[in-house]
Amino acid sequence: MLRILKSFAAVGIAVGALTAAAHAADIKIGFVVKQPEEPWFQDEWKFADIAAKEKGFTLVKIGAEDGEKVQSAIDNLGAQGAQGFIVCTPDVKLGPGIVAKAEANGLKLMTVDDRLVNADGTPIESVPHMGISALKIGEAVGTAIADEIKKRGWDMASVGAIRVSYDQLPTAVDRVQGAITSLKAAGFPEANIFDAPQAKTDTEAALNAATVVLNKHADVKHWVAFGLNDEAVLGAVRASETVGIAPENFIGVGIGGADSAINEFKKPAATGFFGTVIISPKRHGYETALNMYDWVANGKEPPALTLTSGELALRDTYVQVRKSLGIE
Ligand code: GLA
Repeated sequence: MLRILKSFAAVGIAVGALTAAAHAADIKIGFVVKQPEEPWFQDEWKFADIAAKEKGFTLVKIGAEDGEKVQSAIDNLGAQGAQGFIVCTPDVKLGPGIVAKAEANGLKLMTVDDRLVNADGTPIESVPHMGISALKIGEAVGTAIADEIKKRGWDMASVGAIRVSYDQLPTAVDRVQGAITSLKAAGFPEANIFDAPQAKTDTEAALNAATVVLNKHADVKHWVAFGLNDEAVLGAVRASETVGIAPENFIGVGIGGADSAINEFKKPAATGFFGTVIISPKRHGYETALNMYDWVANGKEPPALTLTSGELALRDTYVQVRKSLGIE
């Protein structure tokens, strides 16, 4: 009797698994990102794909560089019969519009990296979000720079700092603010911090912005740079090279740790790109995709807010740090 019961149970489990698999195959989840060419977003997609494979759902990856593309991406997902999507929007102010569009298409919505804001600039708290702990990570950037300034024996009072900024994005403001807090705590004079506002969050825009600062202060010998991400800092590093500043006179520390940073570390000689705080595309890609899947398949709503951490990596430590974060 016990044997019969056991085999019934086994059949039950097998049928259950089949139903779950069939169900997963019906699930379609969108992953919309603002800058599909940026290695960070490619990594997010890569890890989201792993979640899709593991669970058996379909992942639809869409690049949406402006508001119009976001709107059509959402309509497109709705028309294809998707049940939900994750988005890193090109502009957080599109928030109310994105929420309305998602609702109109019957799609569950979750954000990653950049949190949507209301018309008054406050975060839209009803949309589950995963971002980085921007202030803390920025502080780690500032501390790394201050430590290296001291190590190189520079006179803090005569060092220039480039704040590559993108102030329309709250997480960008927090990241550079964190860096400034640490620098100031280490004795860096605020008057030596120069703003380099970038028009877009890519390397070229950062290069243009940083070049203006460097040309304006051509008398300064030692420079440091920080910004929203690796691309921002790489832009400042490229600008320093263009105006003839030697790598040993430049300390740039980015945020990210994807190929933009790794390719720089792989160069045979060190550049002004001194380090990066590696954040986790695995958490932001794999975990958000799983969260959305769980929401659609099992009705389990994702946590309202998840803030992920980062770890400083340099030329000679990045391989190890990436391994320890499970992203190698
Ligand atoms: C923003 C930046 C990206 C990356 C993510 C990480 O979206 O533009 O480069 O740093 O944040 O959350």
